Amino acid sequence: MTLESTSAPSSPAIRFWPVEDLDRLTPDPFLDEVLRDEPVTRIRLPYGSGHAWLVTRYEDVRFVTSDPRFSREQVVGRPVTTMAPTPVASHTAGLQYIDPPRHTRLRRVVARAFTARSMERLRPMTERIANQLLDAMEEAGSPADLMECLHTPLPIAVVCWFLGVDEGDWRAWAGNSEALLSKADAKERNQAARTATRDRVVDLLCRRRDEPRDDLAGVLAEATASGEITDDEAISLAMAVYVSGGHAVRNNSGSMMYALLTHPEQLERLRREPALVPKAVEELYRYVPHRNGVGIPRIALEDVELGGHLIKEGDVVYNAYVAANRDPEVFPSPDELDFDRPGPGHLAFGNGPHFCLAALMARMEADVMITTVLRRFPDLRLAVAPDEVEFQREGLIRGPRTLPVRW
Ligand code: HEM
Repeated sequence: MTLESTSAPSSPAIRFWPVEDLDRLTPDPFLDEVLRDEPVTRIRLPYGSGHAWLVTRYEDVRFVTSDPRFSREQVVGRPVTTMAPTPVASHTAGLQYIDPPRHTRLRRVVARAFTARSMERLRPMTERIANQLLDAMEEAGSPADLMECLHTPLPIAVVCWFLGVDEGDWRAWAGNSEALLSKADAKERNQAARTATRDRVVDLLCRRRDEPRDDLAGVLAEATASGEITDDEAISLAMAVYVSGGHAVRNNSGSMMYALLTHPEQLERLRREPALVPKAVEELYRYVPHRNGVGIPRIALEDVELGGHLIKEGDVVYNAYVAANRDPEVFPSPDELDFDRPGPGHLAFGNGPHFCLAALMARMEADVMITTVLRRFPDLRLAVAPDEVEFQREGLIRGPRTLPVRW
């Protein structure tokens, strides 16, 4: 017997992680530190109770997120240490807090709306809206705020189209998605936004029962009519897609554009070689720190050894995809934006059963936005100094608040 297998694995000291706002695209120094010094560590976050494990290395994150001994369902109702005062992530309760086989069954229903055919129709629609939005920006003249003109309205239009909301109603749906994902203590605003969005979703699903259509609302209405899913499941699935769909892409694509505008050599190369855009988009997904802190944890269903430590049955385990994307063992010189980077894929869309439902859609949107902007505005540059670009405060997802550009 080796010494390793007989000695009891140690428990690392518990570190407090305040999860403070960070400047622009600066990587979180706390994550950099634990990735370097103690990649499987224990943390206490500002809210909730107790402590949790934090896993940061690429291979360890892949392990935890794909091993069924770590459960999402068991998080429900358990006091855990958290980074936000309210469990804001509960909007995705339909998917994010359940395990297979129920999780597999619900995802299968939603997947029907993500067919190759609907994705094929989505791209030309996205290009059409992107061009309309950029026409308006051009007409209003330089300078402009690219967040307001493109990165905010386009993802909402795409997700509304995908859900089945009529084009005339997109603006009415747009107002609430920001408030739904605020970390700040704007509890009432968050609740009001949630209720308003839920009402719209319920109304849409009811209408779809009478007039079936080939969109997500149609797929969900059919699945409830046949008894495959409940009304509540349909509502929370539609909410999950709507809320994740608009906000995540807005911020992430805005950060991508900021990264390009502050890396003129890479930007110039993309202008010369537009065929490189899909590869550049993948590197940008790796490079952009998509979120603050960590998402929803998992609970160990039995004792599991990881990184020389024993995670005990019932322990809370967080993993950081953002840290894994900068693991130097997998991505050498991780802070460099390198479109020629070889090696395995990033984990920006997660891993395992909870892998982002709409990664294909998000990739397509980033591709369309970057391609269209570069083609139409060959002279585009920031209208303020890079360190004057304001980023979100107190948000769960990181991204520019405004992105002033001129051409
Ligand atoms: C830049 C864009 C996006 C990024 C970086 C992103 C990232 C992620 C990540 C990291 C997860 C969680 C993985 C986990 O729980 O372990 C996730 C889950 C999810 N995403 Fe995305 N996402 C993006 C866009 C979207 C869009 C456009 C939609 C919908 C239209 C969407 C819908 C969802 C849903 C419903 C889940 C829950 C899946 C499940 O638990 O089974 N996301 N996403």
